[in-house]
Amino acid sequence: MTLRTALPADLDAIMILERASFPTDAWSSAMMREELASPHGWYVVDEEAGRLVGYAGLRAVKSAKDADVQTIAIAESARGRGRGRTLLRALLGEAARRGVAEVFLEVRADNPVAHALYASEGFLEIGRKPRYYQPDDVDAVVMKLDVRVWAGARHPDPMEHRDGPIRTPEDHALSGSQASKGPETRTESDIRIGPGGSSGTMATGGVCT
Ligand SMILES: CC(C)(COP(=O)(O)OP(=O)(O)OC[C@H]1O[C@@H](n2cnc3c(N)ncnc32)[C@H](O)[C@@H]1OP(=O)(O)O)[C@@H](O)C(=O)NCCC(=O)NCCS
Repeated sequence: MTLRTALPADLDAIMILERASFPTDAWSSAMMREELASPHGWYVVDEEAGRLVGYAGLRAVKSAKDADVQTIAIAESARGRGRGRTLLRALLGEAARRGVAEVFLEVRADNPVAHALYASEGFLEIGRKPRYYQPDDVDAVVMKLDVRVWAGARHPDPMEHRDGPIRTPEDHALSGSQASKGPETRTESDIRIGPGGSSGTMATGGVCT
């Protein structure tokens, strides 16, 4: 597993994953291109043997004290092995480096996998937007993370040594005596939330795709 910051040239590979991960409400290629090019954005990709297997994005406007998790996705074949958490930590590490105090996101109420991931990193539910996602009629769960508290817990920052190989929970598990959790241990039924919610526009805050 190798993490690196996303490049405009990653667009096509990201869009393949995007459409596979979010079949009913994938962002358009144009929206994703805009995201990758935005000076307020920070996107990271996860590669395995030269193949893109994950991506995640943060929106952090310069000097702002809050930021948003825009999106996160791991290829279905690579899920359940710590990669999503590693990507999320990369975003949160970047938020900490930028001096962000709070990170927000919105997640569909019917996405227990993503919800569990966020909660386990310290995100707290701060509200709900009833029936926010249309036409699915699904609530948005709004979550918030205190970055200082998160950083104080000394989570490993996967992007800390950008010039060297990045070791992930999966790598550690494989090199250690314990086997890593394989995807076969999971039964996912996670469904994505849409960009900007039901409006279908780009995020104006706290949106996790
Ligand atoms: C959400 C997603 C990024 C998680 O990535 P992942 O690599 O599978 O997750 P990880 O292996 O890092 O697991 C992190 C945590 O997520 C939760 N989780 C992962 N898979 C789970 C499952 N099948 N059931 C319940 N919780 C699960 C657990 O809390 C897990 O922590 P644990 O391993 O300590 O129990 C991935 O499932 C995905 O791409 N889903 C489709 C896109 C999506 O819904 N994105 C989120 C939009 S808001």
